[in-house]
Amino acid sequence: MLRVIDVSKSFGGLQALKGVSFEVEEGRIHALIGPNGAGKTTMFNIINGFLKPTSGRVEFLGRRISGLPPHRIALMGIARTFQIVRTFPEMSVIENVLAGMGKEIYRSWGVFFKTPWNQENVKKALELLRLCGLEDLKDFAASTLPIGLQRKLEIARALATSPKLLLLDEPASGLNDQETAELAELFRKIRDFGVTILFIEHDMRFTMGVADFVTVLDYGEKIAEGKPKEVSRNPRVIEAYLGTGSEISA
Ligand SMILES: Nc1ncnc2c1ncn2[C@@H]1O[C@H](COP(=O)(O)OP(=O)(O)O)[C@@H](O)[C@H]1O
Ligand SMILES: [Mg+2]
Repeated sequence: MLRVIDVSKSFGGLQALKGVSFEVEEGRIHALIGPNGAGKTTMFNIINGFLKPTSGRVEFLGRRISGLPPHRIALMGIARTFQIVRTFPEMSVIENVLAGMGKEIYRSWGVFFKTPWNQENVKKALELLRLCGLEDLKDFAASTLPIGLQRKLEIARALATSPKLLLLDEPASGLNDQETAELAELFRKIRDFGVTILFIEHDMRFTMGVADFVTVLDYGEKIAEGKPKEVSRNPRVIEAYLGTGSEISA
């Protein structure tokens, strides 16, 4: 579904990504992990068009997407969420999801109001809220939700663009154990709903429990990839995480 081919990215003298290649297969929950500063968010920014690679390219469903602007990439079926939650705080929960249906969410803030508040859209929004366990909260202002529910709302809003691939940057950050378990359940529902997931995570227990496949970055390089069990036993991966305070367990 997604092919990252020999992608490098430099910021001045700093090489954030060094010739990274990997593929995301359709129907998978795929994790992109690695210590802080490994280049994970930079990779997401390249995939969704916020940044252009210094060299290399990205293909989505057989078409080159690197170099296209973010809104074009979004229209092709890639949605994302951010490391820091970005819901629209003043809007209600359902309005946040309807806003996502504008598809051109990245272009300007004005676009949301063009999302027709018609029966079909409201029905779809309610369906997504149900999927994410937020249906009963639809009329609350987004800002009144605890962080765990805001993260789910962000996912519901991203799903409102009807993406084929969902990019989630540290979706479990700031969540308690209960919320993290619910998030894993939501990931599986989303996959069964037909949406492929590529996510960045720090929480190794969560990652190893939910991912079908894991790609590991360290200092801008891919150091390992495979099934969670294989990756968590890989000496290079263990070494990369030593001293970072992160724990690996399958
Ligand atoms: N816009 C930018 N300008 C300069 N340096 C950046 C920029 N974005 C990221 N970096 C640097 O690139 C490296 C990788 O960052 P990032 O992709 O955010 O890592 P991760 O998400 O894995 O923690 C870091 O050293 C970071 O400081
Ligand atoms: Mg990051």
